Amino acid sequence: MKRSVQILMLALTLAMGISYSSGGAAQPSATKPGEEDLRAANASSQDIAEGKRLADATCARCHGGKGVSSGKGIPHLAGQRPAYLYLELRAYQTGARGNNPMQAAVKFLSDDALVKVAAYYSSLDPATPVSTKAAPAKPDPVQAGKAAASGCAGCHGEGGISKTGGVPNLVGEDQKFLVAAMQAYKSGQRKHDMMKTLLAAVGETEMNNIALYYALQKPAKAQTPSPGDQAAGKAAAADCGGCHGDLGVSGNPATPSLAGQDAEYFVDALKAYKGGKRSDDTMKSLAAALDDKTMKNLAAYYANLQPQPPKAKKPLTTAEWVQRCDRCHGVNGNSTDPRLPALAAQRADYMDKVLHAYQKGERKNTSMAAMSSGLSDAEIENLATYYAQQKARAVVFMSK
Ligand code: HEC
Ligand code: HEC
Ligand code: HEC
Ligand code: HEC
Repeated sequence: MKRSVQILMLALTLAMGISYSSGGAAQPSATKPGEEDLRAANASSQDIAEGKRLADATCARCHGGKGVSSGKGIPHLAGQRPAYLYLELRAYQTGARGNNPMQAAVKFLSDDALVKVAAYYSSLDPATPVSTKAAPAKPDPVQAGKAAASGCAGCHGEGGISKTGGVPNLVGEDQKFLVAAMQAYKSGQRKHDMMKTLLAAVGETEMNNIALYYALQKPAKAQTPSPGDQAAGKAAAADCGGCHGDLGVSGNPATPSLAGQDAEYFVDALKAYKGGKRSDDTMKSLAAALDDKTMKNLAAYYANLQPQPPKAKKPLTTAEWVQRCDRCHGVNGNSTDPRLPALAAQRADYMDKVLHAYQKGERKNTSMAAMSSGLSDAEIENLATYYAQQKARAVVFMSK
């Protein structure tokens, strides 16, 4: 007597009419679109038993006896969604998903064998999630930036709003400009012994975090004196707006915004360009044409313009990312679509690896290329850790 099995969730998701482009696997011609892909979801218990024989003989040495892998970078397969498993096996076979051990493992298998082995692995109980104490979450970059910038406030002011003549406002500047400026001090390309010493121990990630923190603060003018003739400064600034923006707000990360900048620092900077202490060919020739009085007037004009927030986005928290990922991958990574992979209790090292592969385009999928493109390494690590810790729900097989 044959006991055919069917997946409860299948009807539900098909009814919702969700469709996803998957894996780039060649779609075998089918009577109804997608029906061929779903054969593993409709497998009989006999199919599953045949799949088990193949799995034990060929796959278990890497993926574990019950589809729970203990090898670094090798995914758990137990309880993974059936149509997804089948489509990925097809993708390895056609070369759409490149990975040598897997390509060799499936090279000589028939389409029927792929269906059965996919059905077998999906029928198994999923891995138990890793302990919640496994890895501490990477700190929020904005908070980390704030902490790292605490020593800068003494000179640059709280939130990067300078109260000290001669010290630049850092608020209102693009994150990339701030990082480039810090790197230039550190490398000695921009000569300033004190800033070089202050930044000596600040690493690249810390610089990015600091710059992000400042870029997200509400901009305000430097709270310092700005002697000089603003109207004369405005007239002299006609040549500057092309690069620094009409109102001193630059749209180009390579060019600093000048609006609200401390006037004394502004004059120092122009003198440094003119005298060659700060090297920049464009600014050198422009500054060479300015006398001290014009510099002071320009400084007064710009110091009194309103700085604007640069383009900077507050990064999402892991919880906010998870909400977005769960739209496709199901609640806490428990996918209800047989074609979409579950992430719950999957190995973190494996997810970390494939998310980078999507990002680099090594593993091709339109949705995942878009979803992974904005993720930092720390965000990827946090998401992989989060999903590895979630309880996985098994695929629900229902006897007919
Ligand atoms: C629009 C739908 C969609 C969203 C949103 C989405 N994914 Fe995916 N994800 C997919 C599809 C489809 C696949 C299978 C792609 C393939 O065949 O390579 C996938 C695959 C994956 C895989 C590989 C699973 C495996 O077993 O190899 C990981 C890991 C993953 N997604 C993580 C995420 C994370 C983290 C997010 C949120 C940042 C996310 N996904 C958001 C659709 C989505
Ligand atoms: C030599 C070790 C090895 C063998 C043998 C092996 N695999 Fe794999 N398998 C891997 C590795 C490594 C990956 C991850 C590859 C990647 O990143 O694309 C993988 C990935 C997979 C995936 C993708 C899972 C996902 O979540 O996207 C499936 C499905 C799979 N294997 C099934 C099988 C089946 C079925 C067999 C037996 C026919 C098998 N594997 C044999 C090492 C192996
Ligand atoms: C002791 C006072 C002091 C401290 C502390 C200090 N700075 Fe500075 N910073 C300055 C001065 C003065 C300049 C202008 C140097 C010059 O003429 O190039 C400057 C310039 C800068 C600039 C260039 C801005 C621009 O518009 O080109 C950046 C970026 C910067 N500092 C970041 C930092 C960061 C980040 C910290 C904390 C890790 C810090 N500074 C700590 C005094 C200080
Ligand atoms: C062709 C484009 C261009 C024009 C025109 C231009 N600048 Fe600049 N300016 C730059 C760039 C690029 C930098 C950053 C150079 C560096 O890395 O040191 C800069 C830097 C500066 C700085 C240093 C700001 C800081 O935060 O460190 C000041 C002050 C300045 N410019 C003033 C002016 C004034 C005043 C004029 C008009 C007389 C002017 N610039 C015209 C491109 C331009």
